[in-house]
Amino acid sequence: MDATLTQLLRCPVCAAGITADDGGSAAGLICRSGHRFDRARQGYFNLLTGRASSFVPDTAEMVAARADFLSAGHYDRLATAIADETVAASRGKQRPAILDAGAGTGFHLDRVLQDLPTARAVAMDISKFALRRAARAVPGALCLVWDVWRPLPVPTGAVDVIVNVFAPRHVEEFARVLSGSGRLLVVTPRPGHLAEIRSVASLLDVPPEKTAKLNRALEGHFAPESHRDIEFSLELSPADIRLAALMGPSAHHLDRAVLDGQLRGHPERTTVTAAFRLSVYAPA
Ligand SMILES: C[S@@+](CC[C@H](N)C(=O)[O-])C[C@H]1O[C@@H](n2cnc3c(N)ncnc32)[C@H](O)[C@@H]1O
Ligand SMILES: [Zn+2]
Repeated sequence: MDATLTQLLRCPVCAAGITADDGGSAAGLICRSGHRFDRARQGYFNLLTGRASSFVPDTAEMVAARADFLSAGHYDRLATAIADETVAASRGKQRPAILDAGAGTGFHLDRVLQDLPTARAVAMDISKFALRRAARAVPGALCLVWDVWRPLPVPTGAVDVIVNVFAPRHVEEFARVLSGSGRLLVVTPRPGHLAEIRSVASLLDVPPEKTAKLNRALEGHFAPESHRDIEFSLELSPADIRLAALMGPSAHHLDRAVLDGQLRGHPERTTVTAAFRLSVYAPA
């Protein structure tokens, strides 16, 4: 493993530095005090091993739905916008360090790394099902199963760009790990996002005051620098709508039989709005 990648890690148990431990057949990570973390067969590291978490992570079905929806290209314009902003935010850095917090299947990070092939990247997510896919999508990145609500296993000031796409934000920890010249990129849905299928797919409404709420939550740690709104139309088949329903948090409570019944009578194509805000924050 690239030694400059492990510089982006600190031991989740004792906060000591970490190096790759490539001895033997089971490659892993080891900290200066000897805490060891094995690499899963699928290529990610589960740093949460041995500790209970009360959080209900995305299921394999949810992750598969998200992967299929994204790989169909529906959000490619969003991925391009994220890549463009990440390139802009890492200007002047030879090998920028990028942390995707709540990276999911690694779809957006993969797109970012296409434009920044020399970047060092960490994909972090609480779902091992997501990380299995991320480890395939971004094989050069460190893929870590971790709960972002805990202290991040990342040294202070080590990261140049944090990417956060529809995922939880641990503001204090994001501020700690970001370098003084770093940037935080946050993608949130805007009112109207997927509005046309909100009811059939049992999606939650997007509250109108989301940006103000985000700015308030980041206040004291991050100052808004710029934002851009990304809006386009999707042409979704009933199968696509099913994926959209299954890939979000409402899937935990969704009645699949009811959904399938409703989708049977659905038109072959539905024009659906995709509406996002990509906000760039600088350390305050
Ligand atoms: C809506 S998905 C977005 C995934 C990815 N950013 C994307 O756009 O495809 C939200 C992701 O946040 C992850 N997540 C939720 N709570 C988390 C936590 N406490 N720590 C780390 N990841 C978390 C979920 O497992 C899921 O992959
Ligand atoms: Zn340790």
